[in-house]
Amino acid sequence: MLSKKVQDVLNGQINAELYSAYLYSAMEAYFQSVNFQGFANWMRVQTQEETAHARKIYDFINERGGRVILEAIARPPGEWKSPLAVFEAAYKHEQKVTGLINGLVELAAKEKDHATGIFLQWFVSEQVEEEKNASEIVGKMQLLKDSAGAMYMLDKELGKRNSVSEGEE
Ligand SMILES: [Fe+2]
Ligand SMILES: [Fe+2]
Repeated sequence: MLSKKVQDVLNGQINAELYSAYLYSAMEAYFQSVNFQGFANWMRVQTQEETAHARKIYDFINERGGRVILEAIARPPGEWKSPLAVFEAAYKHEQKVTGLINGLVELAAKEKDHATGIFLQWFVSEQVEEEKNASEIVGKMQLLKDSAGAMYMLDKELGKRNSVSEGEE
């Protein structure tokens, strides 16, 4: 059985993951509007990943006999000044989420909830990936941003990112 404290923070993390999905969906819409279809595709896949993260926590709460409680999802920003600004915001957002996950790990340890601690390890590793993916794109864009041709190529490359299948999100 989950303690009330752990249940509350896990529910909070469902909200954070759904906000991530909402944010990436807003970024997708921005890229559609400026005709970068490849960057839009990357954001679409990212949205699917975040929805899957929320679902993972949702299922875990239920497995542990807890109660899922859904709150309102905050409004994401809708405009950015450049593709680079979007990916910088995505990178910053992932760093923030890493902080949230680390906070959850610490709370689970404090509450001696080892099952939740083990469950969260997946998210700890996932955040390493998430930060790496976003920061690599930021790095490339910082190099290429003044070259329209290079940005076109990068857009094409990110357009190849495939939807994730169950289990490998
Ligand atoms: Fe996530
Ligand atoms: Fe993420």
